[in-house]
Amino acid sequence: MSTTPQAPPYSRKNPFPAKLVVSQTLTLSGSEKETRHYEFSLAGSGMQYEPGDSMGVFAKNNPKLVEDLLEALHFSGGESVTTKEGETFTLREGLLHYFQITQPSKQFLELIAERSATRAELKELLDPERKRDLDNYLWGLEIVDFLLDNPSLRLTVEEFVRTLRKLQPRLYSIASSLKAHPEEVHLMVASVRYESHGRKREGVATTYLADRVAVGAEVPMFVHIAKGFRLPEDPSTPIIMIGPGTGLAPFRAYLEERKALGASGKNWLFFGEQRHNCDFFYKEQLEGLQKEGVLTRFDTAFSRDQPNKIYVQHRILENSKEIFDWLESGAHFFVCGDAARMAKDVDVALHQIVEKHGGKTPEQAAEYIEALRKEKRYKRDVY
Ligand SMILES: Cc1cc2nc3c(=O)[nH]c(=O)nc-3n(C[C@H](O)[C@H](O)[C@H](O)COP(=O)(O)OP(=O)(O)OC[C@H]3O[C@@H](n4cnc5c(N)ncnc54)[C@H](O)[C@@H]3O)c2cc1C
Ligand SMILES: NC(=O)c1ccc[n+]([C@@H]2O[C@H](COP(=O)([O-])OP(=O)(O)OC[C@H]3O[C@@H](n4cnc5c(N)ncnc54)[C@H](OP(=O)(O)O)[C@@H]3O)[C@@H](O)[C@H]2O)c1
Repeated sequence: MSTTPQAPPYSRKNPFPAKLVVSQTLTLSGSEKETRHYEFSLAGSGMQYEPGDSMGVFAKNNPKLVEDLLEALHFSGGESVTTKEGETFTLREGLLHYFQITQPSKQFLELIAERSATRAELKELLDPERKRDLDNYLWGLEIVDFLLDNPSLRLTVEEFVRTLRKLQPRLYSIASSLKAHPEEVHLMVASVRYESHGRKREGVATTYLADRVAVGAEVPMFVHIAKGFRLPEDPSTPIIMIGPGTGLAPFRAYLEERKALGASGKNWLFFGEQRHNCDFFYKEQLEGLQKEGVLTRFDTAFSRDQPNKIYVQHRILENSKEIFDWLESGAHFFVCGDAARMAKDVDVALHQIVEKHGGKTPEQAAEYIEALRKEKRYKRDVY
């Protein structure tokens, strides 16, 4: 008898309203960060995910920023807005949940360049050849800044709204295994808060989750499948996981999964954060997994506990011979977290290890690592 597979009912287009059941800080007093642990209920959704997948989360903008924008634009908020999809709502509603209202679009910048005297430099910066200078100029600047320093500027609602992009869902690596937590999904999220040009700024989704969603409230979300970031199919395959900061999230899921499966493969985790005392996320759980033998090797790098920085790649290099032996015995090498700095430096360390212990030239080491990548044994999920 054949059964027709049913399309999953929940998707990006039809997100599931997942109830927030736990929201707590992972960072302790003394930390310079605010990294949080969230648990959502997927009960009744039938949603399935695998460790390595992410959740797409639909957030709402901060109502305070919406009011600041309306005031700067001299709008009441009650004006009617119709989207390209034909949906109609008030401008206030649109600014709250439909439009991206922090980082400016190119169209918005073009409008400002055309209509404002205070940002005369923008015209030149919008030349495609000056993309880098424009990015530097825009770092820490938001839509509201361009309006506040142009109090005499008068835009129509239509003119303004035409320049706005749609607010996109944010992805978060799933930090739990369904086998350990049926009908739940756990996320590990670093709240984005900073100050620039004299204003306090907030990341949309991270502060929505941290400040504006109460336990018991629902957040629309969907599973974003990441086939390229899965555990090896053979549960006896060893894995090496490099996960500083929130890069730890998928590896908590991997370890929970491997424990639930009773997988025999060895697991080696490298975790890094600023300080042992206040930034050692899931310390008890990870140390417990080590005692149980699920976590075969566990190395940490706390960057700010001593005058010189110690990062995960330093720990990797200290253990270079064993890392190479694990790779030679078929281990998969996973990296998750910061793309701009960490993932690049870890990649350099990996090349050094292969050169040193494989007796290879830089070119041969690059070939070896390329082969790992092709065999899907060097997997990265970086952002
Ligand atoms: C596959 C994937 C998995 C991810 N997993 C996780 C995860 O597990 N946990 C996690 O926390 N994040 C994760 N992220 C990142 C996440 O998707 C968001 O990008 C992040 O949380 C910020 O979202 P936000 O809406 O709060 O910030 P946004 O509103 O998008 O603001 C971020 C923007 O603010 C600006 N900005 C930030 N800091 C500064 C500063 N100091 N100065 C000036 N400007 C600044 C930059 O323009 C930046 O792009 C993942 C991303 C991907 C692609
Ligand atoms: N835009 C920004 O200013 C900014 C700032 C922080 C994070 N982020 C982004 O926010 C996301 C999540 O950050 P997170 O809180 O998970 O952690 P994170 O910022 O990646 O920090 C985790 C650990 O990695 C260390 N680290 C810094 N540079 C490194 C490098 N080159 N190699 C290895 N380790 C390095 C940090 O040390 P130190 O902090 O002591 O250097 C810290 O101990 C990432 O995408 C990151 O890029 C952006």
